[in-house]
Amino acid sequence: MTRKVIIAGNWKMNKNAAEATSLVNALKPLVAGIDNCDIVVCPPFTSIDAAVKAAAGSNIKVGAQNLHWEDSGAFTGEISASMLKELGVEYVIIGHSERRQYFGETDETVNRRLGAALDAGLKPIVCIGELLAEREGGETEKVLEAQLEGGLVGVSIEQIAGVVIAYEPVWAIGTGKTATPEMAEETHAYIRKKLISMFGYQAEKVRIQYGGSMKADNSATLVAQPNIDGGLIGGASLKAESFAELIKNAIA
Ligand code: PGA
Repeated sequence: MTRKVIIAGNWKMNKNAAEATSLVNALKPLVAGIDNCDIVVCPPFTSIDAAVKAAAGSNIKVGAQNLHWEDSGAFTGEISASMLKELGVEYVIIGHSERRQYFGETDETVNRRLGAALDAGLKPIVCIGELLAEREGGETEKVLEAQLEGGLVGVSIEQIAGVVIAYEPVWAIGTGKTATPEMAEETHAYIRKKLISMFGYQAEKVRIQYGGSMKADNSATLVAQPNIDGGLIGGASLKAESFAELIKNAIA
């Protein structure tokens, strides 16, 4: 099964609106004409409008870093799917490990956000991954299984192909420690197997990104693995040149 590579930049809490415009404008010519990779940038909420405007007419799509499950109401500080859609957002990251670690995100809240994204026609990027202690304790598969089972409750066989899973070993995020391509592939293959047990052959269509210190110099070997279909990129997505090089190497 050939799956289209998807590389998404998770800008986290970086880049104000003016900086978002500059970064997208710098990226556009560097990735112009690439049509065998979905290229996504995920700015903070306040920079989304600027990024969408700068990306208009290009092959760069814009995603958000979170959404709330309700459409409107008394949820101070939250943003709904329809608000994101109004701005022209296409993708949304759900359950990033930083949200799980610092903002009380659980598999249950991930699942509610995912339902809202799918109902609104936003393309979800659902993040899963184990902590260092869990990997060292031999619990990686158990942790991922629970995250997949809890996070994907209620997702239909028709919907699953449109869900992107980002596997991000938490110990590799922002640390410079990447999982080796073999180690990452072994885990991605496990995730695929688990998805197939939950959703049948439609799970072959699910794109599974690797995330955690992916850079221009390791994107090629990671994405060359049979079950690694792209990347969710933090640090290396904040500069147009490094992000473009990472993308080109991944699809070379
Ligand atoms: P990193 O972040 O590429 O800086 O390790 C990845 C992520 O947190 O999505």
